[in-house]
Amino acid sequence: MCYTIALNFEDGVTRFVDCKAGEKVLDAAFRNKINLPMDCSDGVCGTCKCRAESGSYDMGDDYIEDALTEDEAESGLVLTCQMIPSSDCVISVPVTAASCKTGQQVFAATVTRIEPHQDAAVVLELAVDGAAPAFLPGQYVNIGVPGSGDHRSYSFSSAPGEGDLGFLIKKIPGGLMSSWLARAKPGDRLDLTGPMGSFYLRGGEGPLLFLAGGTGLAPFLSMLEVLARAGSQRQIHLIYGVTRDQDLVLVDELAAYAGRLPNFTFATVVADAASDHPRKGWVTQHMPDEMLAAGGVDVYLCGPPPMVDAVRGYLDESGIRPASFHYEKFTPNAPLKAIA
Ligand code: FES
Repeated sequence: MCYTIALNFEDGVTRFVDCKAGEKVLDAAFRNKINLPMDCSDGVCGTCKCRAESGSYDMGDDYIEDALTEDEAESGLVLTCQMIPSSDCVISVPVTAASCKTGQQVFAATVTRIEPHQDAAVVLELAVDGAAPAFLPGQYVNIGVPGSGDHRSYSFSSAPGEGDLGFLIKKIPGGLMSSWLARAKPGDRLDLTGPMGSFYLRGGEGPLLFLAGGTGLAPFLSMLEVLARAGSQRQIHLIYGVTRDQDLVLVDELAAYAGRLPNFTFATVVADAASDHPRKGWVTQHMPDEMLAAGGVDVYLCGPPPMVDAVRGYLDESGIRPASFHYEKFTPNAPLKAIA
């Protein structure tokens, strides 16, 4: 029996290690050539303290209160030198990957599909050489733009474990990646670096509110697939807001998830005042007030900075305190910024 442990470093780099039954996380990481922070390795100093974001585990009773208090343990903090997983786990490590003598992984990939959606977006699919990289649903990679020496960051729209990696890329007139995609074809080669990011689906059973702005839909497609595969019964509502009618892409995929997830609903919203769409305006004008008022909602938001700011303002002004709020801002040319 082996578990997969995702180590999410403070700089967003994520590395996955296998952990054998009965093995401590610190030892599993070391065996995988990752030197997590440690000093005593005996449950005494507290140097190895990290946060378990998801998964089940046993901490035993061989550590002292000075290293990890009861309150800390209850809040999800762990000592990796004592932690023995009993499922796959995600662990936030409060230092950079480089300080643990690890870093990003680089993958070579081949373009297998390019599907433009008018002037709005492009669906890009890639087959990675060798084993597909592990990642958490919601994370992103940096994709090198061939011939430019530069890269762009894109969230996976596919789920972990799928054969090909999928991306939903916003078309930007004159944009570096958009210009390359306009002349790219299946068989072209690309380099990927990652996975990255702290915007990923956490565990839990409470209701989920997903807010997607434009191609910020991508990470939610990955999350929905993972939830559907797991047979999730969670209440999930997704609001997908765009500027123009033609920016609404892959709505058929959302409809398919509505068939697979018993408690999943979604609504599309178009900002353009000239649109005939039944729901117009901004995402904040179509928030599920009843769901939010009931409490305990985990909110995930991926969109451009004004949308993130608008939703934060809406929650503050409405006095709504979600159970958790995870968001990722993206701009057309800048790396993604994620906050959990
Ligand atoms: Fe000292 Fe874990 S390394 S408590």
